Amino acid sequence: GGLVVFPTETVYGLGADATNPEATSNIYKAKGRPSDNPLIIHISDPKDAEEYSFTNSTYYSLAERFMPGPLTVILPSKDTVPLTTRGGLDTVAIRCPENPIAKEFIKLCNVAIAAPSANISGSPSPTSFEYAYADMNGRVDAIIDGGDCDFGLESTIVKVNDDGSLTMLRPGKITKEDIESIGLKVIIADAVIDTLKDDEKAISPGMKYKHYAPIAPVVLLDGTKEQIVNYIRENSSVKTNIAILAYKEESEYIKRLINDIDVYEFGTRGDETTQAHLLFKLLRDTDKKNYSVIYAPLPQKSGIGLALYNRMIRAAAHNIIRL
Ligand code: TXA
Ligand code: MG
Repeated sequence: GGLVVFPTETVYGLGADATNPEATSNIYKAKGRPSDNPLIIHISDPKDAEEYSFTNSTYYSLAERFMPGPLTVILPSKDTVPLTTRGGLDTVAIRCPENPIAKEFIKLCNVAIAAPSANISGSPSPTSFEYAYADMNGRVDAIIDGGDCDFGLESTIVKVNDDGSLTMLRPGKITKEDIESIGLKVIIADAVIDTLKDDEKAISPGMKYKHYAPIAPVVLLDGTKEQIVNYIRENSSVKTNIAILAYKEESEYIKRLINDIDVYEFGTRGDETTQAHLLFKLLRDTDKKNYSVIYAPLPQKSGIGLALYNRMIRAAAHNIIRL
């Protein structure tokens, strides 16, 4: 009936017995999360999905290739999962993590563990013990220290449609291309990239979509290092306290040409695995300083880039400048 924060290979989770409605309602309280936003239930063996959902052959194709791992599958729910856990929906989200501590913890509990990311609602998901502790100490019964999360962005979420195709509701480490490689059809939900048109120059912030946001406004710059430097020089006064998430090979250039900018290295351009690993950490680190603006590069929309793009347009509340 208690709450336990535990590590997974994506981000830390805030866990409770998925079959206990009092316990899962306490998750919503500890997180400050609206109770109509459903939780993912975590199992230690893909076959345990039978206990909680109506599976099908698509589920087993996904399980065989990607479980345990950073993939969440939405299936019709059985009554073993209380409505509180699934936010009143008739479906349930199922994930079998591969982090050994997560696996062992779930196995020892001998029941599915409902867990959202272990952050206070609205802040970036915690990717290390330090951040999980900062958000959850005093709100939960225990926090398991599993060090840094391997990947650093939340799991890919897919919903299985009646015709066996999949709708991707949230991109992650398991990409559309990965899933298509086993012969399944994947449709990316509109909400993943929203309705931005490629030729739109600047999109004004929409607070409604601001999810993974640091305190300072984030602005995504789509351009070369020269264009980025010119833009920042033209748009910032001497006194402003600015930060930039910059690709490693461009950071020296930016530091040389802009005085008094704090540069946070964000992996090399194209190294999306490192960028995914660093994103939430850097957003939390910049929160400790009093920046007036944080600039970051706009990621690609393919492969793991799509997961970065999805998180970063939310952190930036759609504030994108195409240079
Ligand atoms: O990597 C992850 O998935 C982490 C770790 C702890 O497993 N968990 C996580 O949970 O990110 P959370 O609650 O922060 O995000 C789960 C998302 C939410 O946006 C929720 O709305 C959606 O999954 N979701 C859960 N159940 C659903 C369902 N039945 N139908 C549609 N969306 C669902
Ligand atoms: Mg979350």
